[in-house]
Amino acid sequence: MKVQSKAYVTIKQDKLDNYLSVLSPYVSYLKDLFENHDWKRPESSILLPSDESELRRVKLILEKIDTNSLQHHIVIGIGGSYFGPKAIYDALGGTFDVATPEHLPKTIFVDTCDPTMLRDLHRLLSGYKDFPEGVLVTVISKSGTTTETIVNLEVLLSSFDFLHNRLLVVSGESSLLSKMAVSKSIPLLTIPDHIGGRYSVLSAVGLLPLYVAGIDVAELMRGADTQVQQTLTYELTKTPAFLSAAVIFDHLSRGFNIHNTFVFHPELETFGKWYRQLMGESIGKLHDLNGQEVHAGMTPTVSVGSTDLHSVVQLYLGGPRDKLTTFLSTSQEAAAIRVPWDLFFPNLVEDIEGKSAFEIIHAILKGTQKAYDNEGLPYIDIELNKISEFELGELCQFKMFEMMFLAKLLNLNAFDQPQVELYKQETRELLKTF
Ligand code: PA5
Repeated sequence: MKVQSKAYVTIKQDKLDNYLSVLSPYVSYLKDLFENHDWKRPESSILLPSDESELRRVKLILEKIDTNSLQHHIVIGIGGSYFGPKAIYDALGGTFDVATPEHLPKTIFVDTCDPTMLRDLHRLLSGYKDFPEGVLVTVISKSGTTTETIVNLEVLLSSFDFLHNRLLVVSGESSLLSKMAVSKSIPLLTIPDHIGGRYSVLSAVGLLPLYVAGIDVAELMRGADTQVQQTLTYELTKTPAFLSAAVIFDHLSRGFNIHNTFVFHPELETFGKWYRQLMGESIGKLHDLNGQEVHAGMTPTVSVGSTDLHSVVQLYLGGPRDKLTTFLSTSQEAAAIRVPWDLFFPNLVEDIEGKSAFEIIHAILKGTQKAYDNEGLPYIDIELNKISEFELGELCQFKMFEMMFLAKLLNLNAFDQPQVELYKQETRELLKTF
């Protein structure tokens, strides 16, 4: 993974010194936490990549349930109990699952409560009444009390008795759902209490569904561990997390209120959405750590290249100068697909004969960046060597560090989400009246 930004070199030295003076003690604190295996801090997620017991627990629980003939894994969860595993799954091929019917098992992630989706799931599950080992349902909820998750679970369980024996629960150590799972002898994996939803992709929340999908989660963890080691031991200014946090913070303080993650492979779109939650909930805050009302935040958006070049790039290049962009791409072509030399419709588009699909999208990415340079629009460029488990692990861990650093620079709590409770309370009240 390469992380670069021309915008970094434009940050004044006194500002960089200031960022360093805030973040250096924080990194020392993280090092202590890491060396002492302190699982009781909100930052404890940095212990996950080197904790082999997490994957062992996943494998053990799967010994209790037959997955040899599995065709569909239905994973119910929302927010931090959804985006992480879905981001990795989609990046490694899930986006194109529809075009590979032979690829099994398929994972169906179910987040919101949608009648159409539930109706279609009913149809799908009806086909498994005489073949229950073909399906598995995993419910993921740290609190165990998230309305959408529990509604989806109850609707499916009430219609299909056989699912009671094809159910796994992933929930917080002290949640009521965990207690109930134990009392009903449902296989259970717990999420450490101090690891929040949006930082939980490398806990059982991500590992279980990804392992079932056949993804090499050991490599994912190895990639993340590399980032932990680098961030805690390298000179801070040489780490991707520092560079990225510095550029984002600098631009935010200069009125760039939007951070656009511009992925140049459609399979990375869900990663962009995972990051959108990470940024939205971590630094979108009413109060700072001193209790001052600050209404802090940067609006995270996701764009997909080249789809959105034909949609919103007019706005990006010509509209308000309020956006910092992070381009995300890979330098390795996933498949050697070429435009033929002998075109069926010649002369419609120049200079495409014999070029690979990768070369064309790469030219479009570089052309877009050139246009950004010409317009003086700031960006960070992340280039993965390839879209692999290792690189995705590195990327997720780098972004989680970046967000912790950003929150520290902004004097915010990166780990709570008090305002999310506001709509939840209102919903609970309304449900009483229906
Ligand atoms: O990041 C968070 O904490 C939230 O997005 C939660 O993950 C989300 O609300 C789902 O919560 P739970 O895992 O408790 O069902």
